[in-house]
Amino acid sequence: MDKIFRKKSIADLIAQSHNKELKRALSLLDLILLGVGCIVGTGIFVITGVIAAKSAGPAIILSFILAGIACALAAFCYAEFSSSIPVSGSVYTYTYATMGELIAFLIGWDLMLEYIIALAAVATGWSAYFQSLIAGFNLHVPAILASAPGSGQGGVVNLPAMIIILLITALVSKGVKESTRFNNVIVLLKIGIVLLFIFTGIKYVKPENWTPFMPFGLDGVVTSAATVFFAYIGFDVIANASEEVKRPQRNMPIGIVASLAICTFLYVVVSLVLTGMVPYTKLNVGDPVSFALNFVGQNSIAGIISVGAIIGITTVLLALLYSQIRLTYAMSRDGLLPKVFAKVHPKFQTPFKNTWLTGFIAAGIAGFVDLTTLAHLVNMGTLAAFTLISIAVIVLRKKQPELKAAFRVPLVPVLPVVSALLCIYLSLSLPAITWICFVIWIAAGTILYVSYSRKHSNLNQEFDGSQGEKTS
Ligand code: ALA
Repeated sequence: MDKIFRKKSIADLIAQSHNKELKRALSLLDLILLGVGCIVGTGIFVITGVIAAKSAGPAIILSFILAGIACALAAFCYAEFSSSIPVSGSVYTYTYATMGELIAFLIGWDLMLEYIIALAAVATGWSAYFQSLIAGFNLHVPAILASAPGSGQGGVVNLPAMIIILLITALVSKGVKESTRFNNVIVLLKIGIVLLFIFTGIKYVKPENWTPFMPFGLDGVVTSAATVFFAYIGFDVIANASEEVKRPQRNMPIGIVASLAICTFLYVVVSLVLTGMVPYTKLNVGDPVSFALNFVGQNSIAGIISVGAIIGITTVLLALLYSQIRLTYAMSRDGLLPKVFAKVHPKFQTPFKNTWLTGFIAAGIAGFVDLTTLAHLVNMGTLAAFTLISIAVIVLRKKQPELKAAFRVPLVPVLPVVSALLCIYLSLSLPAITWICFVIWIAAGTILYVSYSRKHSNLNQEFDGSQGEKTS
């Protein structure tokens, strides 16, 4: 029993981060742009339309605000962790230091589900804008190859989504690095096209399109919040960069909260304009932002936005793939996953097999599962992670009251408890099938932990050498 609750020592983790050779090169602005770059993607460019049409109507802005509040509360908790334990690894590392190995493993396992499925979901959005763009040149992907079964468009496989994932995988596996300057340019471009949409579209807003405002009632707003939550996923990626940030104790919390605030603002305005331009019932399309512009006759701006969306969504794919590889690499290095995940290619200096395995699985899923199903699963995984990080803050405060943190969550334990309850409340709005898949995934993880990870964990040596002594 002691084994499954053994912890990594916070002092060792902090010392490790000081010893690391990684250069602290990221400024606060870089960090905020990194966050916005990982957040803004398929959620706002695609899911907004489907949800406005099918379950929220114009009240989708309330869903965005509700989901934004849930994220903000969790973001506070992330901020406290990332400013007190500024090492990479995100929730996995934080829980390893506070709640013990089994919970850390399960949260890592849960995040693997989140990242892989999110890769597939985001690629589906990429595919929709790619098809919208080439349609402007009268080119069309044959219907059976254009969408996954179940998406209601008569498709058998979403080939463009599979291809883009495999292309990104090929780049990453060969050692293409994230470049801060490149990322910053792309993020500014992405914000630019969102603003272009807002300023172009606002002239065509007809307030009568906002009535009825809440056609699916309050229930619709809450259910939709659990889905549009997807649009916020990614801010936790900032927490992964903590070892490369200048003045992490000050910049991490500001970076996390600021990037989230910018995105919430953009999302609310975009959804207001979108539902004001087009009657919400017409928005059940894969490329609602371009669609709305075409609808009002702004075809060339719609084309520009499609190009921008394609480039912008591509960077989200890159960020997700890196996150997944870093996570499985870290878990494998700790002995909780087989060593193959941490094996580095002699020539490319990347976890080559790990990268390709991730790419193939994500591509397979992207080809055959529709976006809404994928988004629900991603959200389930993320809400579970947010719930745990909220609880972990309370544990951290209790166990390590002396730990210095530049940012401290106000009103502990009330705020983390509200955060956890809100996440649980939103996850209860997700469909039964999502819950079933999630429970199966976690059960599989538990079996893997008991049969493999517990025995192979690096902490075994330490633990066996000091039976009974806890490491933190
Ligand atoms: N938040 C990311 C997106 O919407 C996952 O694409």
